[in-house]
Amino acid sequence: MEIKGKVALVTGANRGLGKALVQALLAAGAAKVYAGARDPAAVDVTGAQALKLDVTDRATVQAAAARAGDVDIVINNAGICLRGPALGEDAESLIARHLDVNLYGVLRVSEAFAPILGRNGGGALVNVLSVLSFLTIDQVAAYCVSKSAAWALSNVIRLQLKGQDTVVTNVHVGYMDSDMTAGIDAPKTSLRDAAASILDAIESGQPELLIDELSRQVKASLSTQAPAYL
Ligand SMILES: NC(=O)c1ccc[n+]([C@@H]2O[C@H](COP(=O)([O-])OP(=O)(O)OC[C@H]3O[C@@H](n4cnc5c(N)ncnc54)[C@H](OP(=O)(O)O)[C@@H]3O)[C@@H](O)[C@H]2O)c1
Repeated sequence: MEIKGKVALVTGANRGLGKALVQALLAAGAAKVYAGARDPAAVDVTGAQALKLDVTDRATVQAAAARAGDVDIVINNAGICLRGPALGEDAESLIARHLDVNLYGVLRVSEAFAPILGRNGGGALVNVLSVLSFLTIDQVAAYCVSKSAAWALSNVIRLQLKGQDTVVTNVHVGYMDSDMTAGIDAPKTSLRDAAASILDAIESGQPELLIDELSRQVKASLSTQAPAYL
């Protein structure tokens, strides 16, 4: 799908990858870009249409869908990543908190926008996942659980939307240079490069995008005797 002339919506668009995606979509000639954010006043990209959208709040998701009935491209980007153990007193609430944003947020937005994409000819639905959909590290256990579940959800949504010609793209990436990885000393993909790769994947209709070498290596290991998650 050519991005030029299309209408797009990005969740979590006030900073990080979401903001970079809004900028890249506008630079690529999108006719309109809705920048969804919990606080629309925090959206500071010239030319973007700020839209209140908290993915944990069904009412704001539905209000956003009522306003953005012209979208061709929806990018589920909003996400949280908090540190904490997989087992223990706080584990259940931490996992629930991650699922609310990283899994049910994707579900709420996809449910609300799928009929719109269908009416507008199919379009594209992009789900920003992680290398941690394939791999678990215990410092951010709840995040890994949520991104693994979101990977499964995205694959199910692809099957369900096949009949209406919506291309669903799973995006996996290791470290990107955003607030989420502040303080982590590791090679990071720039937000601009990550956004450019995602736009290329939309244009070529790819069902899966592995942005960086880490994602590619971990994914490749899954079919070996020593998969990364072991
Ligand atoms: N950074 C990485 O290394 C990395 C790696 C793999 C995957 N990812 C994924 O990439 C995506 C973007 O992450 P990022 O690196 O740009 O993180 P970020 O800089 O922390 O930005 C996260 C964005 O999500 C928004 N958000 C959080 N909860 C929300 C909610 N309930 N409703 C709507 N928006 C909400 C935040 O809004 P507020 O400003 O209101 O909090 C913010 O705009 C996420 O899905 C993340 O899991 C990131």
